[in-house]
This record gives sequence, structure tokens and C-alpha cells, in this order.
Amino acid sequence: MAILLPESSASSTASMTPREIVAALDRHVVGQRAAKRAVAIALRNRQRRQKLPAELADDVAPKNILMIGPTGVGKTEIARRLAKLTHSPFIKVEASKFTEVGYVGRDVESMVRDLVELAVQLVREERTADVRDKAREAAEERLLDLLLPPTPPAGFAPAADTNATEPSRTRERLREQLRDGRLDQRIVEIDTRETSTPSFEIVSGSSVEEIGLNLRDMLPGMFQGKTRKRKVPVPEALDALTAEEAAKLVDAEGVSKAAVARVEQSGIIFLDEIDKIAGREGGHGPDISREGVQRDLLPIVEGTTVNTKHGMVKTDHVLFVAAGAFHVSKPSDLIPELQGRFPIRVELEALGRDEFVRILTEPRSSLITQYTALLATEGVTLTFTGDAVTRIAELAAIVNERTENIGARRLHTMMERLLDDVSFDAPDLDQKSITIDAAYVDRMLATIVKNDDLSRYVL
Ligand SMILES: Nc1ncnc2c1ncn2[C@@H]1O[C@H](COP(=O)(O)OP(=O)(O)OP(=O)(O)O)[C@@H](O)[C@H]1O
Ligand SMILES: [Mg+2]
Repeated sequence: MAILLPESSASSTASMTPREIVAALDRHVVGQRAAKRAVAIALRNRQRRQKLPAELADDVAPKNILMIGPTGVGKTEIARRLAKLTHSPFIKVEASKFTEVGYVGRDVESMVRDLVELAVQLVREERTADVRDKAREAAEERLLDLLLPPTPPAGFAPAADTNATEPSRTRERLREQLRDGRLDQRIVEIDTRETSTPSFEIVSGSSVEEIGLNLRDMLPGMFQGKTRKRKVPVPEALDALTAEEAAKLVDAEGVSKAAVARVEQSGIIFLDEIDKIAGREGGHGPDISREGVQRDLLPIVEGTTVNTKHGMVKTDHVLFVAAGAFHVSKPSDLIPELQGRFPIRVELEALGRDEFVRILTEPRSSLITQYTALLATEGVTLTFTGDAVTRIAELAAIVNERTENIGARRLHTMMERLLDDVSFDAPDLDQKSITIDAAYVDRMLATIVKNDDLSRYVL
């Protein structure tokens, strides 16, 4: 189930200062100060814009960011963490997935539609959380109706008013039992509506959702789900009924409106692999399509109106963060108009030994924390000495230098290799406490590292 965030937490992150945003990112991504600062400033600026008088606000264009840096240094990671942090609708798309209109593949406008879809979910979850208590109450009443023996119809009601309060007293007693969990073992029969989307997907074509929309109109039974009688335990019934009541209380049209507004005011689109569509010259082959994609991107980045099933969306104030390694191509290989749409350029630094040491140890869920926790589930206590960590970092830097620099991703392959034996043997070990020191690291990795050919394959 999706996490329901209370409204308050959504607004509190909305007012984070750039310094706080950077600090929050620091908990997960090591270094890369410039990139963190840039995204923090961009986010703050859009909050500032929203406080301006309307005419002025309209004229303030978002300062889109271009992140440049080698592979595996944290470009995507920064974006991903940012997404979790801000409750702005956010999607990451690979620029290389798009093709020119009319070609096979998705058209660029689909990213705006996806973003709206996401925002709808976000808003719906928030609103559902808001009506949760009310929905719960209504669900409780319905459940009590189901649990109580049917009361005699009004006509048969005994005249004596001594008995008139009897059913309601039974009801209250039942309610108490329900709340105390004393009915948890009881089984009730409820009508549930299956809202699951059908299990087929239309892959090609740009207007997937339009097709979906039409099908939905044509075959309502298929999409709205049939009601089905199910016998379930009381707690499950209460949850199902609560969800149903909540859905009734949340006004779908209002959700669509709010979602569109949110995308327009605070949406973020992360365009990954932008360097893959750079390149202008070339008269044939994929180049034509690349330049075409850039041209298609232009209006969206510049500000256009996209038709979605939740309404027209203006992209003028959507923030775009583009990222690419730019090994082969350079930002100047992008068509000039597009270059101009990304005025903020930040370079991410290549990572070396010292950064690797920090990446292994500092982030909340660093690799070392991850492996230690994984093995702890089998009762194995894994301890890394300081010099072991330094040694792993050193070796990773060496392999990156000698073969190919894949940045922090190298640490993943190194760690996997390093803990190969431990991972395999863990369930059968007598000695449940293992210390990884520099000597262990060397024993497991040094020969592989020394042999370039070998390390190309296994590390
Ligand atoms: N500075 C960093 N701090 C902590 N972890 C990092 C850092 N850089 C990279 N990583 C880790 O390395 C992996 C790859 O990073 P990421 O996906 O951000 O690379 P990228 O810069 O987007 O590369 P590419 O250009 O190939 O897309 C991730 O698991 C990430 O957690
Ligand atoms: Mg990436």
C-alpha cells in the first residue's frame, strides 16, 4: 500500500530552506556540493515565485538545470532523493527513450501525462488520508449493519418504548467489541468492488492513455470491476469498507484539478541521458531522430499546453533537470535553442578513494550497512575494520582507473565479490561473528584487481 502522508508533512518540506535541502541530500549522497546547491536553489526559487503577484509570477521562468558528470557519480541519485524529499510531483525519464513524433516509441508529451497521473495519485492519497477518520466511521456503521441480525421492519416494531432502545444498545455493545478487537475472528460477507486495472497493456503508440480511456468507456464492466461477494475476517472487512467509503468521499474531479495545478506549479521532470540525444550534424541514421527529439522537447521545456485526460496542463513553470555524462557529445552539441533552456550548468566530480570511503560508510543505507543488516537476519555479525574499508575504496579506485571508470557502481561489484564466501556460507557457519579486515579484502580481491583482464570480467 502507498504511504499516506499527512498534509502537514507535505507542506513542511515545501518550506525547506536551500540549506536544509542540501543537508537532507547529504544524508544519502556524498559530496557533489554544486549539484545539490543548484537543485536546492531551483526549488526555493519556485516557492519564492509562488509568493509573487500573479503578473510577475507568470514571467518568472524556472531555471532549468543541466547536470554534467561521468557515470556513477550520483546524478540520478540526487534526483531520486530530491523526489522523496519534496512532495512535488516528480518523474524521471530517459531522454533516449523518446523518438520523434510518428516514429516508434513514446512521444515527448507523454512525460507530462505521466507526471499528471502521478500527481493525481499523490493528491488522491493526501485527500484519502484527510477523510480517513470519516470513512472509518462510515465503514464501522456498515460493518455493524452486517454483523447485527436484521431488526424487525418498522411496522412490526413493538409499541412499548422500553424495547425501542434495545437494538441500539445491542449495537453499541457490538461496537465496543469491534473496537476492542474481540470480533477479529468473526467472518463477514461483504461486497467488494475490484478496481484493479486489466492485465493487458498496449505497448506501442503514443496515446496509450487515450486508448485506455476509450476502452474504459466501452467496457465499463471490465474496468470498474464487478462487485463480488467475499467472506473475510472482520479486520479485513473494515479495511475494505474504509477504502470504499474513502473513495466515495474524495471527489475525483477535485483531485484532477488539484493535480493539474500541482504539476503546473511545482512539477519536476528529470531528463536523464540527455547526452544521448545530443548531436546535430549527420544526415542519416539515428542523428536525424535525435535532433528531432530535441526539437520536440523544446516546446515542452519552454512552456506549452499538453492535453491530458485530467485537463490541459501548462508546462511553463515545470522545472526540468537534465543529466548526462557527455563523454562523447558536449552540451554544445545540443541544438542552441535547447541549450538556452538549461541556463544552470553543474558539474559533478569524478569520485576517488576518499569519496568511496565515505560512500561506503556515511549514507543512511550505505552498502556496508546493507550487507551487515542482510547477514544479521541469519544471525551473522559482520564487522568491517577501518582499514578494510580504506582498502576496498583503494582497490575500487584502482580498478576504475585501469579498466573503466564506472564511479560508485564499482563498489557494488567489489562488495559482492568480497562477500561472496560469507554470503554463501552464512547459514552453515559455526562461528557467527566475522570480521572483515584489510587482509581479508586483499585475500578476496587483490589477485583479481592485479589482473586487468580478470577484473574486467568479475569486478
Ligand atoms: N556521491 C555519491 N554518494 C553516494 N552514493 C553514490 C554517489 N554517487 C553514486 N552513488 C551510488 O552509485 C550508484 C550509481 O549512481 P547514480 O545512479 O546516481 O549514477 P549516475 O551519476 O546517474 O550515472 P549514469 O550517468 O550512469 O546514469 C547508486 O547506487 C548510488 O547510490
Ligand atoms: Mg543516471
